[in-house]
Amino acid sequence: METVVSGIRSTGHLHLGNYFGALRNFVAIQEQYNCYFFIADLHSLTTHPKPGDFHASVKTILAEYLAAGLDPEKSTIFVQSDVPEISELYVLLNMLAYKGELERTASFKDKVRKNPENVNAGLLTYPVLMASDILMHRANWVPVGKDQEQHLEIARVLARRFNNLYNEEVFPEPKALVFGKNLVKVPGLDGSGKMGKSEGNGIYLFEDDKAITKKVMKAVTDSGPTEPNSEKPEVIQNLFTLLSLVSTPDTVQYFDEKWNDCSIRYGDLKKQLAADICECVRPIRERIDAIYQDEDYLNRVTRMGCEKARESAAATLKLARKAVGFSR
Ligand code: ADP
Ligand code: TRP
Repeated sequence: METVVSGIRSTGHLHLGNYFGALRNFVAIQEQYNCYFFIADLHSLTTHPKPGDFHASVKTILAEYLAAGLDPEKSTIFVQSDVPEISELYVLLNMLAYKGELERTASFKDKVRKNPENVNAGLLTYPVLMASDILMHRANWVPVGKDQEQHLEIARVLARRFNNLYNEEVFPEPKALVFGKNLVKVPGLDGSGKMGKSEGNGIYLFEDDKAITKKVMKAVTDSGPTEPNSEKPEVIQNLFTLLSLVSTPDTVQYFDEKWNDCSIRYGDLKKQLAADICECVRPIRERIDAIYQDEDYLNRVTRMGCEKARESAAATLKLARKAVGFSR
């Protein structure tokens, strides 16, 4: 069975964009691949978060991912900082990563521009740490968004360089796992193209019916169609795109027909959309609440994940150390 590795940022809540754009696919591939999902708390140290915030944010993220369907029986779900082998591999790989190529990374240049007062070495070598996460489990596939493609390319370069330098095929070259036709872009309801944390337009999985309904009822619309069968402007198409994710085909068709004969009432469309989003989110939210309360369960999940991840990591590290010449 081939291996998939994916890191999860250690801050923020999950919104419908994360759910339909990424997480739902992660849930689906757990059967077909040997999956490693981890909370990337080491990565987050580049921005110097407060020590006291970690526990709560790791717990929150873990509860949300488990509630949405990541299964600790099928996948290895762990916290990055629980696996010290990653840091050792990071040291080995850092020797093969050149300052120039790291400085050329788009994400690095972007961070330097935004936070010129905190250009630390960890920020420069962020892609090397990410390569360590991936190569640690000798991954074949990494599900990546556009913004992470360059990082994955660096992981490939480092895998190749290591294998060539030490003349051992220790690391397979990890490839981008693309979900093809299941790849959806979830729009925002404020007229902007994409739902996102930084866009401030998220509908979150932890939100209750009232909060969600309020957000949906405030969605931006226009003054309505004036000609039959006209093309939908972006703000309206956005509502339909969301509807197609959470409602039945019949419901979508019903509102499509109303649009086409110009009898559509946006209030009705929003009410239906709100109800169907609530229907979709409610069971997940209920699971989030239950899992969050169950500290024993969360501890069990991370302990089991840590054990499985360290076993795989130790095996890889043994090969890497041997290739480098450390083993006696
Ligand atoms: P945000 O944009 O809210 O900061 P992230 O960048 O942390 O979200 O998202 C993590 C992953 O979730 C992305 O790589 C992408 O696969 C998915 N994702 C986020 N927002 C959307 C969206 N609006 N539509 C589709 N997928 C999304
Ligand atoms: N850098 C990724 C992000 O910001 C998170 C991440 C860390 C990751 N290590 C990884 C993703 C390894 C995939 C594989 O989203």
